[in-house]
Amino acid sequence: MHDLEKLITQATADFAAATELARLEEVKAAYLGKDGSLTALLKGLGKLPAEERKTAGAAINVAKTRVETALAERREALRAAQLEAQLAAEALDVTLPGRGQGRGTLHPVTRTLDRIEQLFRSIGFAVADGPEIETDWHNFTALNTPEKHPARSMHDTFYLLDAAGQVREDILLRTHTSPVQIRSMLAHVEQHKHLDVMPELRVICPGRVYRVDSDATHSPMFHQVEGLWVGANVSFADLKGVVADFLRRFFESDDLKVRFRPSFFPFTEPSAEIDVAFMSGPMEGRWLEIAGCGMVHPNVLRFGGVDPEKYTGFAFGMGPDRLTMLRYGINDLRLFYDGDLRFLSQFQ
Ligand code: FA5
Ligand code: MG
Repeated sequence: MHDLEKLITQATADFAAATELARLEEVKAAYLGKDGSLTALLKGLGKLPAEERKTAGAAINVAKTRVETALAERREALRAAQLEAQLAAEALDVTLPGRGQGRGTLHPVTRTLDRIEQLFRSIGFAVADGPEIETDWHNFTALNTPEKHPARSMHDTFYLLDAAGQVREDILLRTHTSPVQIRSMLAHVEQHKHLDVMPELRVICPGRVYRVDSDATHSPMFHQVEGLWVGANVSFADLKGVVADFLRRFFESDDLKVRFRPSFFPFTEPSAEIDVAFMSGPMEGRWLEIAGCGMVHPNVLRFGGVDPEKYTGFAFGMGPDRLTMLRYGINDLRLFYDGDLRFLSQFQ
């Protein structure tokens, strides 16, 4: 009897020491298997005298049942623990809020471009497009820009290579949107060639342009919006009126500080640059050049197929990146192109 108690205690302790189900089955074999100690006791019954056999058999069977119960409990405990661990490992907190999808916003320069288009459309300007890879002829020659002009140098302009790695002389990344003046005039003249009097041409051309430039107010890729108005009696006064009115509406300010500063462009005569003063931010009060402009040079009208004896025109090329700096009081234009969402998402 005493031995059976010890055996049960030992079996229960061995089961408890098994921390994995596979190990538990090995331990089980030591007691209940073919060569297990309880099995051996049962087999030994036959050697006992008949009068002892019955009580000894009953006692061994009770012990066997208790060992089996202890085994079953341990098995159950280990299974529960295993399930628990698995559930914890695969836990999915369905109460967490979703990550959602960040809401995109328009780039501040895109907002400026949209605004410029809207304002010019409202006074009867069409919107045209031109290629960013432009011919040397449209970008320079037809704009009355002589062969030796510094803008044509390798230091200022991005040229393209042919398949053999040689610089192409005939095409380049446009340095301004002014070539679209030529394209627009040629298309307009062609479209109305059957008429005695050419209708007025009023167009703006927004787009990307490229120069070998980089500082707080210059980026190698930037935007321009070309404006062109050609007609029978277009004057410099019209240019001033259209631009000043546009700027007041763009900045929603009647006391905007604007100045026209005499300048030079091969494709306009007379020419001016337009400056606007910062109204806020770290640059408040400082002037920033936002556009070049002037009366279209007769040679340029001729390259566009327009008779300079009958028609005149004004043109401007402004920098929407600079207008965006002024509008939001930003002192470094490169911030617009760093791709930092913390900066860009402020302008909604
Ligand atoms: C021109 O590009 C002339 N084509 C403008 C013009 C058109 C004059 C029609 C007369 C008639 P300019 O190089 O100054 O001019 O550039 C015009 C504007 O583009 C500048 O006033 C400025 O606002 C902007 N700009 C020029 N270079 C950069 C640059 N690297 N980064 C950002 N903006 C620039
Ligand atoms: Mg300039």
